[in-house]
Amino acid sequence: MKYFLLVSLLLVGCGENDPGLAKTMEITKKQRAAIENRITPFSVVTVSGAEEVEEVVMAGELLYAACGACHGANGGGGVGPKLKGQTAEYIVGRLNQYKNGEKVGNQSNLMWGQAAGLSEKDINDLADYIVTL
Ligand code: HEC
Repeated sequence: MKYFLLVSLLLVGCGENDPGLAKTMEITKKQRAAIENRITPFSVVTVSGAEEVEEVVMAGELLYAACGACHGANGGGGVGPKLKGQTAEYIVGRLNQYKNGEKVGNQSNLMWGQAAGLSEKDINDLADYIVTL
């Protein structure tokens, strides 16, 4: 009985070479094409539109949210000095000084708390972002 089932499965065949199945697939493809044609005018998202909307957010941009209040959203300065125009090396150097509790200017105490929780990667990410401001 087992062998009979196996043999009959082999004889019936499967895949695209089976004439019965091929016919069914052909109909399905035609139907699918017809449905696609009908829904295309209603489709809202286009590939080119998606490219325009996509925006790359830098890791440092997220961290800078904590700095903008004092240094300006665009790094133009405020309570803290202007950061725009500084090199990445300069910013990394200063942030490490503050992280180590060093006194740079009269208000370094305002920066100690800001820099204390920053990792080496955070500092590099921040510097990479600030130079783009
Ligand atoms: C509470 C306000 C405040 C916040 C928030 C703040 N800063 Fe500052 N920042 C200052 C002040 C004030 C100074 C000047 C400190 C001094 O006298 O040494 C300063 C100095 C700096 C300097 C050195 C500037 C220079 O010209 O030497 C850098 C770099 C800097 N901050 C980066 C940051 C970053 C990055 C953040 C966010 C993680 C941040 N700051 C958050 C107030 C702030």
